[in-house]
Amino acid sequence: MAQPREQWASRFGFVLAAVGSAVGLGNMWRFSYLTAENGGAAFVVLYLIMTALVGLPVMLAELTVGRGARRSPIGALEHFGGTRWRPLGLVFVATGFLILAYYSVIAGWTVRYALIGLLAGFDGDPGERFGAIASGSRAVLWHLLFMGATVAVVMSGVRAGIERVALVLMPVLFAIVVGLAIYAATLPGSGPGYGYYLSVDFAALWDANVLAAAAGQAFFSLSLGMGAILTYASYLSRENHLPNESVVIAGADFGVAFVAGLVVFPLLFALGLQQDVGESTVGALFITLPKAFSEMGAAGRVVGVVFFFALVVGALTSAISLLEVVVSSLMDRLGWERHHATFLLGGAIALLGIPAALETDVLGAMDGLAERFFLIAGGLGLSLFVGWRMQDPMGEVRVGAEGVRWFGLWRWLLRLVVPAFLGFVLYWSLGDLSGALQSLAGG
Ligand code: TRP
Repeated sequence: MAQPREQWASRFGFVLAAVGSAVGLGNMWRFSYLTAENGGAAFVVLYLIMTALVGLPVMLAELTVGRGARRSPIGALEHFGGTRWRPLGLVFVATGFLILAYYSVIAGWTVRYALIGLLAGFDGDPGERFGAIASGSRAVLWHLLFMGATVAVVMSGVRAGIERVALVLMPVLFAIVVGLAIYAATLPGSGPGYGYYLSVDFAALWDANVLAAAAGQAFFSLSLGMGAILTYASYLSRENHLPNESVVIAGADFGVAFVAGLVVFPLLFALGLQQDVGESTVGALFITLPKAFSEMGAAGRVVGVVFFFALVVGALTSAISLLEVVVSSLMDRLGWERHHATFLLGGAIALLGIPAALETDVLGAMDGLAERFFLIAGGLGLSLFVGWRMQDPMGEVRVGAEGVRWFGLWRWLLRLVVPAFLGFVLYWSLGDLSGALQSLAGG
């Protein structure tokens, strides 16, 4: 409590850090496998609509609460809403714990893949390799190493750690993804991949399952619904044009996911591997893509290593934001010093991730629980908070953004449209979720 609150060094640094939070495994791994699972282009369209209609308003809400209160989630909600809103803040922190625990396990896989590609190449049986990497003691080890790296960055603080890493790594990630998309376009036979990915079957837009998946994915990918963006915004001074920031962050996040699809689908179709992702699970991409890389020979090895390196980068900058939510909460609430808070919480999360590293089904269940329940419930709570409870959120947004006209619309989206929509998604997902948990208990 004694130390003054840290701040970003520059507007650009903040934006890149927030984009770094948003862009991660969600954009490349999860987006591709959900697109494949939900039939291609229709899912992409729904995901875009969800990003704009539901994601953007909630993004602006998080930015507004965070910058306005200059506190981490629990304190920020209390500041504007009183102690009755504390539980929502606690849910945010708990969600951060849950997500980072398994997210770090998947990130560990990506590190392994990058290293294996570099040192040995991608030849060999891809399914067997995935089995060896994804669970068991090796998976635990790489999960712990990845958590160690995350802890090291967060320990260094907002400017020297989080912002610096984003400034260096995010441009690299953008360059890689765009470069790979251009390369994929040169592959003979990639044409049908574009068709699958881009030509929309409008009838499929009316499927509630696809819609619910698209909403969950938009939240996950934008890092919304658990106070990550809120926490980053709490380190802002009050000059930023928040509506513009929200558009830039959401636009960059969608952009990277979209371009990642322009890598994955043309590549898979060019190598005739598209059926492989059809019945997809968490592992699909980790099995199918290396198969493609190995069939492409020497070029494939380079492309594969670079691809997995980009995934590692995205995962790291996202994991940092997840850890920062819990760390800043402990610092704000209990006055802990950053080093101690980071070390303790990083360690606790690392332990929680071990079951997910031992058993891929546990990981899948944790992911489903987080994305289909906690993030949506958190987003619902936050939109009601800013829509109905917070006094004059528009006044806060207007600081640094005079003259924007659509604030009225924004508040009504938060009051009615977003809650109605998220309420429906929550209701719809609960059925799925109980099924998933049952199958876990049974298996
Ligand atoms: N958005 C990140 C991704 O797409 C993951 C992530 C980081 C996240 N912080 C979050 C997801 C907060 C939900 C909430 O990989």
